[in-house]
Amino acid sequence: MRLENNLSRTFDILVEPGLLESKHSDAFSVLDDRHVLVITTPTVDRLYGERMRDLLATRSVDFDYLVLELSEARKTLDYVQQVCASAIYYGIGRKDTLVAFGGGVCSDIVGFAASMIRRGISHIRIPTTLVGQMDAGIGIKGGVNFRSKKNVLGCFHPPAAVLVDPVFLATLAIPSILQGLSEIIKVALVADRYLFEAVGTHGETLVFSRFQQPDDASLEILNQSIKLTLAELQQNPFEDQTLERLLDFGHTFSPDLEEESGFVLSHGDAVAIDMALTCTLATELGIMSVEDSGEVISLLQRLGLPIWSRLLSVNLCHSAICHAMVHRGGAVNLVVPTTIGKARFIRSPEQLDENVFRRCIDKLSKPNEDLTLSGIAKSESLRKIVM
Ligand SMILES: NC(=O)c1ccc[n+]([C@@H]2O[C@H](COP(=O)([O-])OP(=O)(O)OC[C@H]3O[C@@H](n4cnc5c(N)ncnc54)[C@H](O)[C@@H]3O)[C@@H](O)[C@H]2O)c1
Ligand SMILES: [Zn+2]
Repeated sequence: MRLENNLSRTFDILVEPGLLESKHSDAFSVLDDRHVLVITTPTVDRLYGERMRDLLATRSVDFDYLVLELSEARKTLDYVQQVCASAIYYGIGRKDTLVAFGGGVCSDIVGFAASMIRRGISHIRIPTTLVGQMDAGIGIKGGVNFRSKKNVLGCFHPPAAVLVDPVFLATLAIPSILQGLSEIIKVALVADRYLFEAVGTHGETLVFSRFQQPDDASLEILNQSIKLTLAELQQNPFEDQTLERLLDFGHTFSPDLEEESGFVLSHGDAVAIDMALTCTLATELGIMSVEDSGEVISLLQRLGLPIWSRLLSVNLCHSAICHAMVHRGGAVNLVVPTTIGKARFIRSPEQLDENVFRRCIDKLSKPNEDLTLSGIAKSESLRKIVM
């Protein structure tokens, strides 16, 4: 006997500047004829709440609206329960929908709540941060932190639609833009040299204009990052096809760094340090050229992303490899760039001995000796030494 079931569900991601302007409100037709509960956070509500409520009212959407003080520290089951309790209170039924209107924390919590309410109702994501728009908001995962482990409880629950408006990014703080840029550099390094070069050309403008300038390039960079991320997710949406995931680049040493810092070190900063370390490792092992690795490190520094932390030690690298092996079914599957835009996997830990890590950490702690390419403005380096 067997019960066939098919969990896969297709959804569209619309990228459209100016979504909250009424002329674009067709994007919101997914909400018609449903009872909708919008969940947002105080900052997003202050900046965009009125426009969102006006737009929903103009479309005659039957909606309720919940503002929750969400943050990384509050990404817990308690807040998922609060969303569930509100959905029940407002009478959200099987055919109704939640809307996550905010950053990655909001979409992770709302996605998780939607997966549990009546064993799964629909939700729509309107991500308002760069991380949300090119990473957290476009995948199918929701989740929370639990017992000091990040994202350890969660679900695969595809949204019904994702509406991406880059205009929301205009009000973000620069550190929040940098968090997203770190993830964009991650995907560029393993999949697209052209994207890496575009970030190299426009990086400072993108950061200081909060992704509003240059007009065409910012939209193209956002679109391309989303496209590449989706192409990777598409091959393994439920993470059960392979334990070799290109998007794990920058995510082997970073979890341990974040944890070791007591989560003072932000995720994007930890990913940047991990990428710098892995590129240095790749040159030490003869996998990536010194020039390519230097170019990566120069770009990270120029944009104000860190490449080293006092917490980076041989022991930490060793534990991170052990933790990654548990997560990746016994293989290291360390993603290392072979050149900018291409990567391969190191599967066994034998190549990764203590001395190699020691040499890499030494190099990164004094980066201006031979790692920085002379062509790229050393003097403008905004290098941060974290912790
Ligand atoms: N599910 C996934 O696949 C996935 C992938 C990557 C990251 N994540 C999760 O995403 C979270 C990080 O997301 P994040 O970086 O968006 O952080 P966040 O959701 O905490 O938002 C950061 C800050 O930006 C503010 N904000 C949001 N939109 C704004 C706007 N338009 N203007 C001004 N301020 C605004 C928020 O109020 C918040 O203070 C982490 O918890 C991470 O685990 C999930
Ligand atoms: Zn990440």
